[in-house]
Amino acid sequence: MSISNDFYPNASLPLERKESGVPYVRPGLHVESYNDFDPLRHVIVGIADNQHIPEACPASNEKIPADSPMRGSKAGRRTQESIDRANECLNGFAQILENRGIIVDRPGAVDWHDRINTPDFSISSGFGCMPPRDCLLTMGKSILMAPMSFRSRYFEYLAYTDLLREYFESDQQCMIEQAPRPRLSDDSFRMDYVAAYEYLSDEETMARSLNKEYSTKETDILFDAADVMRLGKDIFVQHGLTTNLAGIRWIKRKYEPMGYRIHTLSFADNHPIHIDATFCPLRPGLMLLNPHRPLFAGQREIFEKNDWQIVEAVKPAWDNPPPLCYSSTWLSMNTLIIDHKTVCVEASEKAQMEQFDKLDFNVIPVDLRDAYAFGGGLHCATADVWREGTREDYFP
Ligand code: ARG
Repeated sequence: MSISNDFYPNASLPLERKESGVPYVRPGLHVESYNDFDPLRHVIVGIADNQHIPEACPASNEKIPADSPMRGSKAGRRTQESIDRANECLNGFAQILENRGIIVDRPGAVDWHDRINTPDFSISSGFGCMPPRDCLLTMGKSILMAPMSFRSRYFEYLAYTDLLREYFESDQQCMIEQAPRPRLSDDSFRMDYVAAYEYLSDEETMARSLNKEYSTKETDILFDAADVMRLGKDIFVQHGLTTNLAGIRWIKRKYEPMGYRIHTLSFADNHPIHIDATFCPLRPGLMLLNPHRPLFAGQREIFEKNDWQIVEAVKPAWDNPPPLCYSSTWLSMNTLIIDHKTVCVEASEKAQMEQFDKLDFNVIPVDLRDAYAFGGGLHCATADVWREGTREDYFP
């Protein structure tokens, strides 16, 4: 992958730093986060530069809802016009956060245009670094680069290596880690399943999902960071198209010795990919659930026993996702919580804003819909570096 600042106006890495090779030490920089709702102090916001529509990979069709305009779309560079507009949204979002005193970093410089070759697979391009949430998992004072399950996203961590290097030098307790790299060879996927998938009805895809039959096999250790929901000592991981059971076992074995408890969650969803438009923590004691994606039997109990309230999200404002978008209209509930009383919501989602208002939140509208096609909503577009607060036990 070529790395250069010249074609990358939003890149975070100044040229002088690139020439000297010495990472900056940013005084006062702090890495730490245990949940999605404590006061946000430092965050990464994605960029749309050079983003590509990757060629279909064995896992990708299954992850695109049948009614999505993305199905069957042609691989290639996204139009410069759509990239500029998405960056306008993302830069506006970053500015809103900065105006509130939150430190905002942007990913580094990668041209996703290059072909990716590994001994196990070859694909005509990468993807992009608009949704940092998928790639980076902040667990306390460590940031883990996830394995990822799309071939096109295999090298996505490169967009963050310079920033992470800086965090490592600046916060003496911060740890940077990489999960096992998957092979993503043809053995990693059910190739026949994928070929059949395009012809399956919604009922059939739902039946497969309820049976937990996914296109990803158990050959690799696979998870995307956005399948992991952090609630202090308790970590909830969605088993689905982007995260397999081996991935969940790996998360358990890594984090349980550190005092975390790992729980697996499944939802009645034909395309279970990333938990953050399905089940979202809003503040201690309050969860937002997608009414179209109920939890599997028995999985509400831990919340109810501990007096957590689960409210259902209101209907999204839109009947369809925007053009060339991978996600569903439920990005309406994909919000960024700034603190227990403040939330960023996409500006066109009026009903969702009203619901937050009734739940006692101050709502900050953010224009982001034109960036949805680049990988998701307000939560997807960010990754936590620092939130105040400590690791609480919400489910004693
Ligand atoms: N699967 C979700 C939906 O379409 C989209 C989640 C996107 N999240 C993310 N972190 N990229 O409803």
